[in-house]
Amino acid sequence: MRISGKGKVCGIMANPVEHSMSPLMQNFYAERTGVDFAYVPFKVQDEDVEAAVKGAYALNLTGMNVTVPHKQHVMPYLKEIDEDARAIGAVNTLVRQVGGFKGYNTDAAGLLRAMAEENITAGGWDCILIGAGGAAKAAAYVLAKEGARVIYVLNRNRDRAKELAEEINSRFGKKIMADMALEDYKKLPRTTYLAVQCTSVGMYPRSDRAPIDDPDFYEMIHTGVDIIYTPMETCFMQYVKAAGGKTMNGLTMLLYQGIEAFEKWNPGITVGKDVIEEAKELMIAQLKGQD
Ligand code: ATR
Repeated sequence: MRISGKGKVCGIMANPVEHSMSPLMQNFYAERTGVDFAYVPFKVQDEDVEAAVKGAYALNLTGMNVTVPHKQHVMPYLKEIDEDARAIGAVNTLVRQVGGFKGYNTDAAGLLRAMAEENITAGGWDCILIGAGGAAKAAAYVLAKEGARVIYVLNRNRDRAKELAEEINSRFGKKIMADMALEDYKKLPRTTYLAVQCTSVGMYPRSDRAPIDDPDFYEMIHTGVDIIYTPMETCFMQYVKAAGGKTMNGLTMLLYQGIEAFEKWNPGITVGKDVIEEAKELMIAQLKGQD
C-alpha cells in the first residue's frame, strides 16, 4: 500500500476496536479503486469522545467510522447531522466539511442496499421486526421509509417496542407500526411477512437459539433477514429456510455500510461489483479466522 503526502486518512473510533474488520475492508477498497487513502483503528474511551472528534478534525482526517459504544455520544460534537441519522438517533460515519464533521448513519443505508442487492423489498409488504434496540430502530426506519404496509414490532420488553412504534408512527405521520410482546406472536394476523431479526439472540457463541422457537411462526415468513453475521446462518435463518422462505444475513449489510462510507469519503469513486464480491470473501475468511 502506498500513501503519499496528499493521501486521505480515515479511521474507526470504538472501544474495543481490535476485532473490527473495517480497517481491512476499507484499505482493500482503497487498493482496488486506486485511491490514495489510509484507514486506521482508534481505541477511544468514553470520556475522550469530544477530544477525539475535535482532534480528528484538527488532524485533517477526511472522515471516521464510529461504532459501539460511541454512536450517540459523538452527536453533540458534529457540525451537522443527516436527516436519516437524526431520525435513527445514531451516527456511524463522519464526513469532513468546512468547519466540522457531518454525521450519517450508513447502517440504515447499508441494510437498504443489501436488501436491494438480494431483491428484497419492504415496499407494500406486511413486516415483522423482532427487537427494539438500536439496530431495530435503524431497520424500522428503513422498512417504514421503503413503504412497508404495516410493521409489527415484537420485543421481549413490550415497553421498548411501544416506544419504538410510537416514535416511528409520529415520524411518518401515520399508524404504520404496531407493538407486541415477543410471546404474543401467535396473535399476528395470519398472512405472509418479511421478517427482520434485530435481537442478539442466536449470536455466536450461543448460536443454537432463535428469538421464537416455533416452526409454525416461520410458516408465515416468506423472507427472513437476520442482522447477525456470526454465525453466517443463524438458527432464525434455518427456521425460515425450513419453512420454504428466503434468507439474508447481516454480513451483506455490514459490507454495504462500509462501502457507503468509503464512497462518501471518496466522491466520484464507486466500488465495483467484482470488488464487492471479493470483499465479501475476504470478510468470510476473516470471520472464519476469528472463530
Ligand atoms: P442493539 O443496539 O444491537 O440493537 P440493544 O439496544 O441492547 O442492542 O438491543 C438488543 C435487542 O435484543 C433488544 O431488542 C433486546 O430485547 P429487550 O429490549 O427486551 O432487552 C433483545 N434481546 C437481547 N437478549 C434477548 C433475549 N435473551 N431474548 C429476547 N430478546 C433479547
